[in-house]
Amino acid sequence: MRYESGTAMLEPNPNLIDLVADARAGHDARFAGPAPIAAAAPGRVNLIGEHIDYCDGFVMPFAIDRYVVMVGRPNGGREARVASTVSEDIANIPLDDPLEPGATDWTKYLRGVIRGFQDRGHNVPGFDAFLVSSVPVGAGLSSSAALECAAATFLEGLLDTVIDTREKALLCQKAEHDFADVPCGIMDQFASAYGKPNRLVMIDCRSAEPELVPFDNPDLTVLIANTRVHHELSDGGYASRRKDTEKGLEILGKTSWRDVTEAEVLSHWDALGDPVNRRARHVVGEIARTIAAAAALGRNDFETLGPLMAASHDSLRDDFEVSCKELDTLVDLARRIGRKGGVIGARMTGAGFGGSTVTLCESRHADDIAAALATGYKAVTGIQADIFATRPERGAHQITG
Ligand code: GLA
Repeated sequence: MRYESGTAMLEPNPNLIDLVADARAGHDARFAGPAPIAAAAPGRVNLIGEHIDYCDGFVMPFAIDRYVVMVGRPNGGREARVASTVSEDIANIPLDDPLEPGATDWTKYLRGVIRGFQDRGHNVPGFDAFLVSSVPVGAGLSSSAALECAAATFLEGLLDTVIDTREKALLCQKAEHDFADVPCGIMDQFASAYGKPNRLVMIDCRSAEPELVPFDNPDLTVLIANTRVHHELSDGGYASRRKDTEKGLEILGKTSWRDVTEAEVLSHWDALGDPVNRRARHVVGEIARTIAAAAALGRNDFETLGPLMAASHDSLRDDFEVSCKELDTLVDLARRIGRKGGVIGARMTGAGFGGSTVTLCESRHADDIAAALATGYKAVTGIQADIFATRPERGAHQITG
């Protein structure tokens, strides 16, 4: 899966069918038997609209062709027994009482989702399950939302019930809040739950309404470049940025960032104080940029879209302070290749502090651009980036047969 610097071909993405086969083989090895229930949910990449999903903004993610797959069956008992490729251990989760937060390993996401079903009145029966994932962890591609949405979709299968997509995404977001202690917005879980092939999941985060927008131009390629660094192990940086934005709104005397203009931010600059004033400038600017980017994309106006992506990155780097030198390096390399070399736009994607960049480029140049990014990044940082092309894929679903 790694893109080796200097080689000329982007490797194909791991195939979902193979992933399901791996999961079923893993289940059989651990629990000796078939796994009739299977669910998959993808990670996401965000084209633009960063750190504004918790500020009533607009975001433009899509579900990528990297999945968490969870397969299993009822075990007749009162425990969930869950294994994965991550560890040799089988996690045993008693289901008699409502689950409580406290776990620190990956099972916290699963526990949070089970609790969401318990809160909806479901008596979750014992089950055995096996998980595999092709969503890189800590890469800013929402591996946790993919796990939550896969688990929720698996539980729908186990309980023979269907939850409305919006409610399912919100249940998964609550799991992240309560069991992983990350006060995330709605972007990741919505993208993972609502994703469709060849569609962006444009979300108005004030109304929490997703709109599926065509994104199927074969001349365009989205490259994800994973820096393979993650600077904050806890998400303290994320929570503190969110607090800054809440403080800003309070000082401005508003109830929604959608009602704040750039002029108001500038006229309250000293009252807001540093860094809240810069956080506010990012939020207001990024909302405007995302609206403009959606319009530009709709009319294939790449000369407008590229600079909007660039301005988004600069604002995240300077005003929101969630970038890092590795992300900046990849974005600078893409900028240097520029329009002449087929790059339309590049920016960091996701929460930041490491993770990945997204580069929108012309398909005919994608291999060369990936090679140049890999080579340049290795030369500057000594790290082999993980670079792959992706496209919008199907969101959380059950796999039958
Ligand atoms: C993380 C969060 C999202 C969003 C992004 C930044 O991925 O889970 O809700 O805030 O960061 O845009």
